[in-house]
Amino acid sequence: MSFDDLHKATAKALTQKVDDICKEFAIDADKLSELTAYFVESMEKGLQPLDAGESEETAKGLPMIPSFVTGKPNGTEKGVLLAADLGGTNFRVCSVDLSGDHTFSLQQMKSKIPEELLEDDSVTSQELFGYLARRTVAFMKKYHPELLEEHAKDTAKPLKMGFTFSYPIDQKSLGSGTLIRWTKGFKIKDTIGKDVVQLYQEQLNASNLGMINVVALTNDTVGTFLSHCYSSGTADSLSSGEISEPVIGCIFGTGTNGCYMEEIKNIVKLPEETRAKLLQEGKTHMVINTEWGSFDNELKHLPTSKYDIEIDQKLSANPGFHLFEKRVSGMFLGELLRNMLVDLHAKGLILNQYRSYAQLPHRLRVPFELSSEVLSHIEIDDSTGLRETELSLLQSLRLPTTPTERVEIQKLVRAISRRSAYLAAVPIAAILTKTGALNKRYHGEVEVGCDGSVVEYYPGFRSMLRHALSLSPIGSDGERKVHLRIAKDGSGVGAALCALVA
Ligand code: BGC
Repeated sequence: MSFDDLHKATAKALTQKVDDICKEFAIDADKLSELTAYFVESMEKGLQPLDAGESEETAKGLPMIPSFVTGKPNGTEKGVLLAADLGGTNFRVCSVDLSGDHTFSLQQMKSKIPEELLEDDSVTSQELFGYLARRTVAFMKKYHPELLEEHAKDTAKPLKMGFTFSYPIDQKSLGSGTLIRWTKGFKIKDTIGKDVVQLYQEQLNASNLGMINVVALTNDTVGTFLSHCYSSGTADSLSSGEISEPVIGCIFGTGTNGCYMEEIKNIVKLPEETRAKLLQEGKTHMVINTEWGSFDNELKHLPTSKYDIEIDQKLSANPGFHLFEKRVSGMFLGELLRNMLVDLHAKGLILNQYRSYAQLPHRLRVPFELSSEVLSHIEIDDSTGLRETELSLLQSLRLPTTPTERVEIQKLVRAISRRSAYLAAVPIAAILTKTGALNKRYHGEVEVGCDGSVVEYYPGFRSMLRHALSLSPIGSDGERKVHLRIAKDGSGVGAALCALVA
């Protein structure tokens, strides 16, 4: 066979293989119905008490964590509160001034979590929370030295702080909860099973910040929901003739998750006395943090390719858990593509200038090195010869590619993002179905407050998600009633709103 023929045969085999992968990644209306039905079932299971012998760690069904938030803000809330936010790669400390007219102002200090705290599983909780306390000191010194002075006096009132902690928590009250497991890269074993509010408060006390009282613990998804309610002002807009209502808060970023309001009478896992007390107080609903990243950890219905298995089992920090998140969230989109490229190379179909795995550019061999931002450039590249893609891969991975290879890489990128967006529609369709939110009021429309880099910036993600909603059991009539709204700063404002009512 001539060199040219060999080249053509390899290109054909590559196209064939890529088309097979894309086919495997496609999700049709039947699959969406199957997944939505199973999601509803998993929500219902998760609202029940654990079966004998089950723990939060091993529970089937969704975690469905009660947040102890029983009302929606209406935008009239007022006050200055502190908020801290540990969510992914950054830690933020903020002071939030809620003006009581749906608006707020915010001062914040953001710090990148040092690599060693993320990478090393032998780090102690004390080291992590000590770091958080030191950043809190730095924030207070820079933005609120007057409060520090004031609080040197014994008579000063404590400062209330809300803590957004965006990992699965076994929440026991508005102000306490123990870590079930880490996600999104953290590995510190020592924190599992401990009360994260207590850990943080202890380190604040040890850093002379005992005047800060961490009164509320919340999740970013709950924060997003509350801040969206505050900004959109449910009560006001409804009385002024607007007919949409915030129903879901969700995150599609490094991780993914969502929350909604459930009727307290359905949250059977809450102790009987707690439920009775809340109902007696006239509370009817509570925000539930679904922790939907954990949907179908048993892999009964989720589409699963060999790349998903490889990433989960060999490369992730929590094998066997958060399997929905590993197909949907930003942290995993680039890793899926990286695994595909390495595999196609091993099959001799791509990047053939490198004779062996060891010769591939170093960055292509490093797990999680390829970010979803690179995929977002490739996704919309319509330049001649896919020049943008070429540059993006060169810059991010030092990886040279041929035009033919880039065409195939773009197909893979689009298959990965489409699967992610279609799967992202499943929990939304399921929550709307379970709560009957679309049929509650005449012409009732619903708002979904969203935050996170993928939903905000990934090109086409929102329109693919909407398309999947119209194919899902809520149909195109249902899809038209759904308003996806970007809700910014949920973690800060939401935590402040929680602290206000604590
Ligand atoms: C965590 C959730 C969080 C989500 C979005 C997931 O990995 O388990 O608690 O809400 O990421 O940040």
